[in-house]
Amino acid sequence: MDFKEELKQYQEIINKELEKYLRKKDCLEGVLNESMEYSLMAGGKRLRPILVIATYTLFKDDIKKCLPYCVAIEMVHNFSLIHDDLPGIDNDDFRHGKLTNHKKFNEATAILAGDGLLNNSYIVISDDLKNTKNSLELNRKLQIFNEFTIAVDRMIAGEYVDTEYEGKEISKEDLDYIHQNKTGALLKLCVRMGAILGGANEQELEKLTTYAKKIGLAFQIKDDILGEEGDEKVLGKPVGNDKELKKCTYVSKYGLEESKKILDKITKEAIENLSGFGNKAEFLRGLALYIENRNK
Ligand code: IPE
Ligand code: IPE
Ligand code: MG
Ligand code: MG
Repeated sequence: MDFKEELKQYQEIINKELEKYLRKKDCLEGVLNESMEYSLMAGGKRLRPILVIATYTLFKDDIKKCLPYCVAIEMVHNFSLIHDDLPGIDNDDFRHGKLTNHKKFNEATAILAGDGLLNNSYIVISDDLKNTKNSLELNRKLQIFNEFTIAVDRMIAGEYVDTEYEGKEISKEDLDYIHQNKTGALLKLCVRMGAILGGANEQELEKLTTYAKKIGLAFQIKDDILGEEGDEKVLGKPVGNDKELKKCTYVSKYGLEESKKILDKITKEAIENLSGFGNKAEFLRGLALYIENRNK
């Protein structure tokens, strides 16, 4: 199947699955539930859950088994976006071509919507753990749950260092630390969740983890590039804000052209790590190229 078609199919699967978790509005916290739904269903690319499925299908076909982890990671991702846009962090007014959560609702609601999505992700996973009877499968899922919590911790750490470094000179090491944590940690988690759930052996897991680390860094480098020269209408979020906030980015450190060269090199390195997986890894190869070439 054509890559774009497959991507769209996966996006549809994820969107349908997420709908099952939307909460009722006829209660006292109805607006809070509405605000969580507003962000969760605002039109994200669903790249993280798609990575889970794409990795899982290297090993197994019954993708139903990984759907709770797809839902959970997309919830955490949207928690991170809602809080990232808050006035105290990036102070952004638009995302997905719509008002950011705190602009559409208010700051208190946006903070709590983020908290709610984070905690909901844990509910989804713990429900799945509770319903898993097979002990091998349960052990794999406990490993995943542990990695999930650690990845969220790293994302939060990365966000903190990102804001702390605004307006300051940064070393190559510290810039990579920010990118690998604020963005890379969740993307690496997605690949590892799919691999562990699918029953990858140590060697396979190592290769896939290296692939994941590379696309994680590549993803944020591309985000930095789009934040400088993207088309605001396509991107759905503001362009030029990194500069305004004096953010440390690949573009501020290396310039646009050099950043693109680094991005291309890392993407190629990511793909090299898939060589042992044959044709089955074609979609993961496509995803690495998609990350490099996307315009939103
Ligand atoms: C944006 O991630 C935030 C970063 C980690 C750079 P995505 O670009 O994957 O967000 P959506 O969900 O597709 O909008
Ligand atoms: C987003 O980083 C990382 C997280 C939300 C964890 P950015 O602040 O660079 O991403 P955008 O450009 O707002 O999506
Ligand atoms: Mg940010
Ligand atoms: Mg931001």
